[in-house]
Amino acid sequence: MSKNKILIAGNWKMNKTSAEAKALVSEIVAVCGSTTSVDVAVCPPFTALSAAAESLKGTNVLLGAQNVYVKESGAYTGEISASMLKEVGCSCVILGHSERRQYFGESDAFINEKTKVAQAAGLLPIVCVGETLSEREAGKMMEVVTTQTVGALAGVTDAANLVIAYEPVWAIGTGKTATPAMAQEVHAAIRALLVKQFGEAGSKVRILYGGSMNPANASELLDEKDIDGGLIGGAALKSATFLDLVKIACSKERGGHKCCCSCQ
Ligand code: 13P
Repeated sequence: MSKNKILIAGNWKMNKTSAEAKALVSEIVAVCGSTTSVDVAVCPPFTALSAAAESLKGTNVLLGAQNVYVKESGAYTGEISASMLKEVGCSCVILGHSERRQYFGESDAFINEKTKVAQAAGLLPIVCVGETLSEREAGKMMEVVTTQTVGALAGVTDAANLVIAYEPVWAIGTGKTATPAMAQEVHAAIRALLVKQFGEAGSKVRILYGGSMNPANASELLDEKDIDGGLIGGAALKSATFLDLVKIACSKERGGHKCCCSCQ
């Protein structure tokens, strides 16, 4: 079976001012703004979404946020609703990132609620799962990833508007990448869960890998059967490395041929 269309998404985390975002997005779209071979997304912090949206206008690059709250409006100081994200031009949103689980105490049930709210609002959720080093060393990797995936997707019926990102916590920002075989093992397990829940549609849900993905290791990761793209942290903060990742993905989609836009 052919693989799903690759998605390369940049998670900028708490980096880039509006001015910096504008500059980075301009550099990205100058090269791959018209690409159709792969899907490309950038996810700046909330304050830079508007500036990024300006620079993304008329291009194929998608805008995403890094979180959303579950209520539509009201007395929820510091929170942002799905319609606010839509209004500013977002089409996707990262949910349940390990940093949100770790520093902000997000539970699977909360991430589940956010996933449903995002889908209902027409935002594509990119739901993150992944084990810590101690969980992996204790042999609990599959159990943890299964609990997180099943928990985040409880009651979710829309497989067409869903992306999962497997991000082993020990590989995030550490320079330690899961080997392609290690990543594929978990991606295959997630795939099985998706097919169990959604039937055939589960095989079409993209599963991204995240955790120190860079131009040196992306090619072999993307060759794995169930790795449908990357959620990129550090390497998304510079146009050169991010664009290299897009080019690698593009050439995979085009069977080793030149990219469809001006990136090669
Ligand atoms: P790094 O690519 O910096 O390891 O971050 C991965 C990540 O957390 C993306 O969401």
